[in-house]
Amino acid sequence: MPTHYIQANTGGRLHPASEPSISPLNRGFLYGDAIYEVWRTYHGIIFAWEEHWERLRSSALALHISLEFTPGQVLSEIRRTVAAYRATVPGPGELYIRLQITRGAGPIGLDTALADKADFLILVQPCPEISAERLRAGLRLSVATSLRRNPVLSLDPAWKTGNYLNNLLCLREARARGFDDVVILNFSGEVAEASVSNIAFAKGGRLVTPPLSAGILGGITRRLILGGIAAAAGIAAAEEPVRTGDFPSMDECFLLSTTKDVVPVGEIDGIAFKLGPDSVAMRLKKGFADAAAGYASAHPDLAA
Ligand code: PDD
Repeated sequence: MPTHYIQANTGGRLHPASEPSISPLNRGFLYGDAIYEVWRTYHGIIFAWEEHWERLRSSALALHISLEFTPGQVLSEIRRTVAAYRATVPGPGELYIRLQITRGAGPIGLDTALADKADFLILVQPCPEISAERLRAGLRLSVATSLRRNPVLSLDPAWKTGNYLNNLLCLREARARGFDDVVILNFSGEVAEASVSNIAFAKGGRLVTPPLSAGILGGITRRLILGGIAAAAGIAAAEEPVRTGDFPSMDECFLLSTTKDVVPVGEIDGIAFKLGPDSVAMRLKKGFADAAAGYASAHPDLAA
């Protein structure tokens, strides 16, 4: 059971997430026949609303799920869910907002024609906080040895689907060895990403991150950093293939994701990386916080 309250909204019905809601015939549950997005708030504003919505649309297109909802309808359901959350857990903290869309329910069988219609589930909980100690010491990562990232011609990692078993099993392997997170390679042996984050490195003051062609999720955090936040912080950035043999020549490593923004990595399988307040990772983290604050003041219409 979760240690904190999570508010759910199943197709418009508000309830604690600890209570059951979807049908046993829901295809997201039976087959992972679903897509999702995670937003977070900064200063109470839903960050990068458009970018996540666009990625949701392209995931839906890829899976041939017809989105039955407009962005405005989803936004107002998110607000209802946040209001119910705040009524139970008063306070100003930043929030994690997850929207899961499934192809719906229907008779048992893979045929998508059996699905009734797409439905939604929204989950709201506190945005996980990364402790100062974690930022100081960095995450400990290990490379997955028994599984690789799904090849692009299978379940393309660019689609944010409800099927995370591959990443889940990679994470399990690293956790069993006592590490915090996992580095997943693609079928060419190049670094792809971590379990729920993109990965980047710093070398000679420059940011290096695997290209989308490595077979990764096109992360919004990654895109915003490459698209201007790095430059604004005076950091040059490039998309280049990275192999495990490159690790010893990298100065720094860090993870990028909506909930973490930028989090330093202290080691991968015993290879140590530079940390500290003047690191590229921490300069980017500061630049990201500034960009998020700017976004929040420019988008009062996206108050959660
Ligand atoms: N995860 N790669 C994977 C496999 C991910 O699941 C995620 C996001 C990312 C980073 O993408 P973004 O910057 O758009 O969050 C990369 C979300 C946060 C999650 O599952 O919680």
